[in-house]
Parts: sequence; C-alpha cells; structure tokens
Amino acid sequence: EIECVINDEYSIGCRQYASEVFLPFSFIARYFEVYGKLTTQPGEEAKQRFEWTHSYSRVYHPRGKYSHHGIFMSFEHYNVEYRDRVKCITGREEVPLSTQWGPQGYFYPIQIAQYGLSHFSKHLVRSTRNASLLEDAESRDTSKWSTIGDAKVLNSKDAETGSRVIAFHSEDLGAALKVAEGVRSLLFLSFDLKVTDNASVVVSIESKSRQVYRVHYVCSESLISASGDTDVYYGIGDRSEWSHLTRDLATDLHKGLVLASGKKKARRLRLFRVNTISFVGHGFVDNVTLASSEHLSQFYAAADWLVREQDEQGGWPIPVERSLADGRLQLSRGWYSAMAQGQAISLLVRAYNRTLATHYLEAALRATKLYDVPASQGGVLASFANQYSWYEEYPTTPSCFVLNGFMYALIALYDLKQTVTDRRGSAAVRLYESGMRSLKALLPLFDTGSGSIYDLRHFTLGIAPNLARWDYHSTHINQLLLLSTVDADPILRDTASRWTSYMQGHRAPHN
Ligand SMILES: *[C@@H]1O[C@H](CO)[C@@H](O)[C@H](O)[C@H]1NC(C)=O
Ligand SMILES: *[C@@H]1O[C@H](CO)[C@@H](O)[C@H](O)[C@H]1NC(C)=O
Ligand SMILES: *[C@@H]1O[C@H](CO)[C@@H](O)[C@H](O)[C@H]1NC(C)=O
Ligand SMILES: *[C@@H]1O[C@H](CO)[C@@H](O)[C@H](O)[C@H]1NC(C)=O
Repeated sequence: EIECVINDEYSIGCRQYASEVFLPFSFIARYFEVYGKLTTQPGEEAKQRFEWTHSYSRVYHPRGKYSHHGIFMSFEHYNVEYRDRVKCITGREEVPLSTQWGPQGYFYPIQIAQYGLSHFSKHLVRSTRNASLLEDAESRDTSKWSTIGDAKVLNSKDAETGSRVIAFHSEDLGAALKVAEGVRSLLFLSFDLKVTDNASVVVSIESKSRQVYRVHYVCSESLISASGDTDVYYGIGDRSEWSHLTRDLATDLHKGLVLASGKKKARRLRLFRVNTISFVGHGFVDNVTLASSEHLSQFYAAADWLVREQDEQGGWPIPVERSLADGRLQLSRGWYSAMAQGQAISLLVRAYNRTLATHYLEAALRATKLYDVPASQGGVLASFANQYSWYEEYPTTPSCFVLNGFMYALIALYDLKQTVTDRRGSAAVRLYESGMRSLKALLPLFDTGSGSIYDLRHFTLGIAPNLARWDYHSTHINQLLLLSTVDADPILRDTASRWTSYMQGHRAPHN
C-alpha cells in the first residue's frame, strides 16, 4: 500500500508493484470522467476483462444521403414517451405532456415533434407489425362479447358512417369484448367511438405475475389519475361525435403506476397481456383493433396537434418560463424556439409527403416566418458580430447560440426547400443558405480540442464555457454527419470525424 498525494490537496490509497503505481479505477473515473466495467466475452464466462470507455454516448453513421421524406436522423432509436419527464400521452390530443420545466405539465412543441418524428422513423425501419381486428360489426355475430346482468350489445347500422357498428348499454363492467389468446400480447388498442350519454372504455391487463390492472378511458377533461395500485384513469374529453382513439396500453399503464407510486421514476414492466376490453355506459363502437405498434397514428397525432396549435405568427409558443446560465438569461412564458419551429417543419413536410394534404405543407411554410424576426422582437433570429445569422433554440438577450438547436432548425429548412421547389420555398432557400454560411464560419468556436461546446455563453456573457456532455456531443456529430451528406464542404465532414475521435479520447495537439 502506498499513499498517493493528489495535487497537494488530498490523499488516496494506492498500490505499488515494483516500480509501477496503481490507482483505484473509481478515482480515475471521477477525476477524468471516464467509464469502465468488468465484463466477460460470450463463451469465456470464467475470464473477466476490464473495458474502458472515454464516452458513454454513440454516433449513428448515416445509411446514405439524407432525405426530407425518410428517417429523421437517428430518431428511430428515440422513445420519447418512455422519458420520465413525459407525464403521459394525453387522452384527448394523444400527444406527450411534459413536466420538464413545470410540474403541472404542459405541451412542449419540441417534445411533441420529436415524438412524431421518432414514430415516423420507427415506422420506416420496422420489420413486422401484427394487428388483429377484434370487432368491425360487419358480421352480425356478437358471440365475441360477454354480457352480465342488464348489459346489452347490439349490432346495428350507423346512419352517419354507413358502417355496421356495435351499440353498447351497460351500467358497469357488464359488456366486455373477449380477447383471443393469440392476440393478448398486442398492446396497442384502437377503435372508433361515439358516446350517446356518458361512457368509458376499461381495459383489463394482466402482468406476468398475474397481477390485474385496469386502464379506464373516461369522457372527462381530467388528464390522468390513479386509484389504488391497480386502476389508472385517462380523460378522453367529449366523444359525442364519431372519433378514432389509439392508445399505447403499456405506456398508459406505466405512467399511471408511476403517478400512483408518487415517485418520479419507476421500472417499466414489459410483459403484459390484455384480458378484456369493456364498454361502460351508452354508446357505439367500431373497428376495435389490437396491434403490436401504431407508429403512423402516433406520427399523425403529433402532426395534427402542430396544425391545430400553430398561432397567427406561424409559431408554437412555449408556455413555461425558462432561465439559463444561472439566471443571467431569461425567457418569459410564450417564447418561441427555432428548434421547435424546425422540428415541427421536419415533421409537417413528412406528413405532407405521405398524405399530400396541403394543410400540413402550409403550416410548415408559415413556420419559417419567425426565423426572420429578431429575438429582441419576439422571434428566433440572432446575429453573431452583425455578420452571421443564427436561429436560436433559446432566443435570449444577449444571444446564447446553442449549436444543436440551430442545426435542427437548419435541417428543417433543408427539408422544406426540398419539398417545395417553386417560389413558395424561396424563404426556406434563403434562410438555409444564410444559416449554412454561419454554421461553417462559427463551427470552430464550438471545438474545445477534446470535446464540443453546447453554446457560446462564454463569449456573450464572459463566463465559463458550457461544455457539451457526451450525449449532446454525439448529437452535434450526428447532425454534422447528416448535413455532410447534402453539403460536400469538408469542414462539416472533417469536424464530425475529429469530434468523433474525441469520443475515443483523442485530443487536438498542443504547442
Ligand atoms: C407477430 O406474430 C408472430 C407470430 O405470432 C410473432 O412471431 C412475431 O414476433 C410478432 N411480431 C410482432 C412485432 O409482434
Ligand atoms: C362521465 O363519467 C365520469 C366518471 O363517472 C365522470 O368523471 C365524467 O365527468 C362524466 N362525463 C360526463 C360528460 O358526464
Ligand atoms: C370502421 O372502419 C371502416 C374501414 O376503414 C370504415 O369504413 C368505417 O367508417 C369505420 N367505422 C366508423 C364508425 O368510423
Ligand atoms: C415524397 O416522398 C417520395 C418518396 O417516398 C418522393 O419520391 C417524393 O419526391 C416526395 N414528394 C415530395 C413533394 O417531396
């Protein structure tokens, strides 16, 4: 044993073997922020080795040239709804509700757009999707239903849609649709619903350990609640007109159980099976389906939310205040973000591409207006040294020049200019070209020689630099790699590869 004195500040216990001194890895890990663990190789379980990694994050290399109608960056790996800061997927809008900067929950346009883009990308890479139509009422056989007491299930023709539907009347859990053994593991439920008086849909779900839970979808405006450890409630609003609902049962149950436990985090149980789907109250139902995924419905829920919520400036105001740099930079409620505008555009052009519904494209075109409005006048435009325009994720005064949000805003302009090749796309072309010029000029300012910098607050506020943690550093690289597939300027490619080498511990040389 040997005492190791660290910078004359404190001592730790080390070991000496001949002329070599060994320091505990727990010390090295903390001191240098590196990562390591004991592992074994498959087939050699008796032999351990130690694996050292400089970074905990990873880079996804593009599969080919980026396309405005293809996978968005590496978002097929995102699971937005699993994040602890997502309170739930709301019953009315079917989009995530954030608690990141406000515990009451609020709609955060960036999160909603990312939810949509991730499901769009997952849809494109998915291998199979299993779906089972449990009830479409086309055959008049109601033997799939079990009724108790006075509950009634009737097959009838709906005058409005011209489709055959099921009418249900039940005071409690008396009218249940049975779920065949082979489809019980499909945990995405969808159906068309029209409620005459008041109704709820109650899904009984069983965990692997045979614990039974119920998820209730209730015609109310309340968001999410839980009673006991087994029952979770979602308000689905007024459903007196025909509407389609799509629910991710496992996520709905998980978010309710997290709420019931009073904890911020909870382990996500995976192995659930659906027992029954009950219809309580009075109403009509059709097209009851269980499926293994519903990526496109989730994508369109986000796109439709963006279309509905866009304001007259073409923006999606963020309804919570934000404070950065220890309170030196402030944004008050209702600020706009170039990243929100951008991620929304990237989503909307993809929705337009799939549907050719012009309202998606029009919303995307309107969303560029704020790119031209200076931050000081409520927009998202900043200028570096009066020479380079920058689209601000956080449009503070003074500016902060956040790199990743800016690149998302640029990628969106690329998406839009590729989609609209006529005059309507001229603003996108101009903003894209001016933004790319800024990116290429200012990129070196974000390079520390061993990592990257999140923003330029050290320059605008004269404070310590805000170094990017590894997952933001890898986001920077993923964005540069994407842009380098559509712009051959070597600064994009070379910066991406140097920054990738920093993740393996390489550093720029010093004098
Ligand atoms: C679809 O069903 C088949 C056959 O039951 C099963 O092997 C496969 O894993 C399922 N795929 C998904 C995505 O659920
Ligand atoms: C329907 O019933 C639920 C639960 O009893 C209640 O919370 C909700 O307010 C009712 N909705 C309407 C429209 O009456
Ligand atoms: C059920 O789906 C069919 C086929 O997509 C559709 O024609 C019908 O209108 C749907 N039912 C209702 C009530 O919306
Ligand atoms: C829409 O996407 C298809 C490929 O899926 C592509 O060929 C087409 O050019 C796109 N259309 C527009 C208007 O971007």
